[in-house]
Amino acid sequence: MSFKHYLNRIVILILLVTIYSCHTSMNQSHTPKVEEEKNMPVNELDRKVDSVLNIMTLKEKIGQMNQYSGFRDFTGPVSKTSDAASKTQDIRDGLVGSMLNVRGVENVRAVQKIAVEETRLGIPLIFGFDVIHGYQTMAPIPLAEAASWDLEAIQNSSRLAAKEAAAAGLNWTFAPMVDISRDARWGRVMEGAGEDPYLGSRIATARVNGFQGNDLSDRFTIAACAKHFAAYGFSEAGREYNTVDIGNSTLYNVVLPPFKAAVDAGARTFMSSFNDLNGIPASANEFLFRDILKNQWGFEGFVVSDWASIKEMINHHYAPDDEAAARLSVNAGIDMDMESYVYMNHLEQLVEEGKVPVTIIDDAVKRILKVKFELGLFDDPYKYCDEVIEKQVINSEEMKAGALDMALKSIVLLKNENEMLPLKRGRKIAVLGDLAMDKNSVLGNWRIGAIENTAISLKEGFANYTENEVVFERGPVFVDQKAEFTQELVYNKTDTTGTAAALKAAENADAVIVMLGEHGLQSGEARSRTDLGLPGLQQEFLEQIHAVNPNIVLVLTNGRPLALPWPKKNIPAIVEAWQLGSQSGHAIAQVLHGDYNPSGKLPMTFPVDVGQVPIYYNHKNTGRPDGYNEGTVFYSHYQDAPNEPLWPFGFGLSYTTFEYDNVQVDHNYSQNQKVVVTARISNTGDLAGTEIVQLYIQDEFATTIRPVKELKGFEKVTLQPGESRQVSFELTSDQLGFFNNQGDWILENGAFKVWIGGSSQATLEARFTLEQ
Ligand code: NOJ
Repeated sequence: MSFKHYLNRIVILILLVTIYSCHTSMNQSHTPKVEEEKNMPVNELDRKVDSVLNIMTLKEKIGQMNQYSGFRDFTGPVSKTSDAASKTQDIRDGLVGSMLNVRGVENVRAVQKIAVEETRLGIPLIFGFDVIHGYQTMAPIPLAEAASWDLEAIQNSSRLAAKEAAAAGLNWTFAPMVDISRDARWGRVMEGAGEDPYLGSRIATARVNGFQGNDLSDRFTIAACAKHFAAYGFSEAGREYNTVDIGNSTLYNVVLPPFKAAVDAGARTFMSSFNDLNGIPASANEFLFRDILKNQWGFEGFVVSDWASIKEMINHHYAPDDEAAARLSVNAGIDMDMESYVYMNHLEQLVEEGKVPVTIIDDAVKRILKVKFELGLFDDPYKYCDEVIEKQVINSEEMKAGALDMALKSIVLLKNENEMLPLKRGRKIAVLGDLAMDKNSVLGNWRIGAIENTAISLKEGFANYTENEVVFERGPVFVDQKAEFTQELVYNKTDTTGTAAALKAAENADAVIVMLGEHGLQSGEARSRTDLGLPGLQQEFLEQIHAVNPNIVLVLTNGRPLALPWPKKNIPAIVEAWQLGSQSGHAIAQVLHGDYNPSGKLPMTFPVDVGQVPIYYNHKNTGRPDGYNEGTVFYSHYQDAPNEPLWPFGFGLSYTTFEYDNVQVDHNYSQNQKVVVTARISNTGDLAGTEIVQLYIQDEFATTIRPVKELKGFEKVTLQPGESRQVSFELTSDQLGFFNNQGDWILENGAFKVWIGGSSQATLEARFTLEQ
């Protein structure tokens, strides 16, 4: 239905009261009018939105603010009070504005048809889904992608995910998750960009741009959702859904910047978080949603709650009942209720009783309608529903190539002694480990749209490399692979049947490749851990292999930083391969054989021991830092573990080596409004390679204590052997200032340190004094 057609329908509605006779098959009558939507000035869009709003009843408006989960996939606890039949009836009654977890062209069309053809106004639904790292073709988990530090590749990966999802009928993803986290116990670190607000902000921008493109009305772009606003990554003790207690300095300088970056990039939606912040649940937090997001940042899209997070404010002991929960959330600025059922049950009465101003409802509905218009859904509600395109795009060669490219760029080389890697040709190699054969686990956690067991396993990746004699052995099985999504996985499974054969293979090999780590569902939502070691029997297995053959390459697959002091000390080569998605095995095999020189850098600190967590590079100094009061115990430390991490933020090796020198600072800030820092980087090894050059600063003294180091720039540089290049970074007020505890951005004069190098432990240092 074109918009003109739609307006006609409104007129008819006013004159004749009923429009039922006007319904025609929407599928045929809707002609896409992409061009008109594309170049529409904002006020024209507002006018269209108003013209719809003006004819809506209060009930219909509230319907737009209600989101249901579909009938098959569930990504949260299923409500006992609602079933498929009553949900369908509610759609028919115009009481639903959006669905999540309905996917595939056939399913989306069927549900859209009810909304468009059977409701009084025919307003199309918007279909949301957790397209977190791909729809059916799985890209690496977001934490792995972040390890690439490659904004172009990350944007492309999101673009492909959007394209595949849009081909499956979807038009809205619940991504990117831009929660900064310093706690590897929290399972959802796999879904974010790690611990750093600067890197996190740059990646937030790339992901929003990737999903939404330049034009939301394009056939293959979908609306993004920055989540979870705010501070979910600071859940106490890393325990999922736990309370959050952080100070203003952390809130303004660490938590909020990636969200602000998402708004600036034009993210059309936001999601509230489950946690409370200073005693106010996020889903009722006026300060977050009205004051900061909508007023201060000028966000014009809409906000969806997280799954049942509005109703769960009763469990928080904040809202005494459903009605209060609905009132508190809507007044705080949550525009759409995901699976709480409290807006649809209580908002009408709350408005009638004057407890919720109708202007708040109107504002929420306008925001939702606006995004639907921007997506082009009013012109063609079935715009994303085309079986031919679905077949062409999903799992196409384009998708596979994109997933492989991203996987290659995400791998981090953590250790490489005795020239273990790249693998020499003509050797006897044993590839061991249950996970090396696994076609499922490496798909990662958010893969509802993926087909089970479709990843290229490490074993399969080796098929292209026949110069070596390779034997494969599973070894002990440490996890029950059959465990369902909703069940707890069994980690302590002790099926050691395969151990003897694996050890024999190791003994007879020149080199052993063993893939160990976490099962794909061992990280992600509701997958917190207190132990960051190798789960189950794996450490024991690794030590057994080491006893018969120490020439080991340990390939890690995991969704979070792990604490691996024994492997770091004893295993000569360690490769961080995360959960790399559909093309995992191909990417790892290429790297191991030297067809791709790894360049990834850790986006999160790896601890020596779980007891160090939260451990992060950009911490503040204390009054008694390490090295103070030497010779005494009176400094900040542990008795039984170092302060240092296992591997620091920003760390990652290459098959070649890089050296840095000649750092220079041009610091006439008062004249140029910027400080320019340059250094020389040289490839000092024998191979071409790519390095992620990083710049860190320290504001030495300030009116609030500043971190010991802060990342403020990075650049990916590829150099041939012997080649050198000058890299240059500009530091403006945006990098040199900070938020004070009132949330004001300030720039203070004084001394700064600056480092350039290949990790957060870069030693090439310079200083300058800022004078405005
Ligand atoms: C709960 C998760 O916290 C959120 O990130 C996700 O988007 C929703 N469920 C919908 O699946």
